Amino acid sequence: MAEAKEFNRSEENVGNVLNMEHINLTVPDQQVAALFYVTGLGFTRDPYVDFGTRNMWINAGAQQFHLPKSTAQKWRGHIGVVVPDLDDLKRRLNSVSELLAGTQFEFSEKNDHIAVTCPWGNAIRAYAPEAFPGIYLGIAYAQMDVSPGVAEGIADFYREVFLAPAEVLENEGGRCVEVSTGLDQRLIYNETTEEISGYDGHHIAIYVSDFSSPHNFLVERDLVTEETDQHQYRFQAIVDPDSGETLAELEHEVRSLRHPMYMRNLVNRNPAQSFRNYINGRDAFYPG
Ligand SMILES: [Fe+2]
Repeated sequence: MAEAKEFNRSEENVGNVLNMEHINLTVPDQQVAALFYVTGLGFTRDPYVDFGTRNMWINAGAQQFHLPKSTAQKWRGHIGVVVPDLDDLKRRLNSVSELLAGTQFEFSEKNDHIAVTCPWGNAIRAYAPEAFPGIYLGIAYAQMDVSPGVAEGIADFYREVFLAPAEVLENEGGRCVEVSTGLDQRLIYNETTEEISGYDGHHIAIYVSDFSSPHNFLVERDLVTEETDQHQYRFQAIVDPDSGETLAELEHEVRSLRHPMYMRNLVNRNPAQSFRNYINGRDAFYPG
């Protein structure tokens, strides 16, 4: 009989959270936002769901940025995205530099990514696909700053409430916890002793297969902030599951797999196409 091969079966586990599908950050000016997210970063304005000038959805692979019009919101940390080609990204960012002059927009090349600041100060790190095998375009992770000493409790919260693999790691500033939010996606809480700005109400959306168990936990502790509809609820406080102490705040829009938008086919364009450099048949980009 052939010798049995050894496999680490737990590496295949995904957990209850299947996708952090969007990050919602309000912006005061849609024209400036389009210059940044579409022309600069090369993402695609959702061609189907239209809000006029009230809101704009921006597709990035299997994820989106939601940009309703209001006072600018700020992510407390940075967002890691994957783009098909960093040289193309640099060209596009240069092309919007003059138009975004006078805003907080800037970018610089780092070792393995391009650090970009949005017109309202949000930090985005853009990586090439090699940095995140399996992702060619999308939001690979979002890292949020939290106070020292909360990493273990946050890990316990996601493990217990969302059955999400969560790993506490040491880093330069202290510890961080990486929460699995899908096959190749992470929500990272990073302990820091630096000052963290107050929470301004920005949110994330996650899809979960077990929808009711987290809801039961949250209802028991009076933590549900909105019963949106049959397929969605919201909460904001990430608590120590034993003591109930609030460790961090980030509104989560929790959606079931029966939500009409689950696994929606998001249209992505090939940002290398241009009027002057057009190749017939290469308009679409398929992030895999
Ligand atoms: Fe949302």
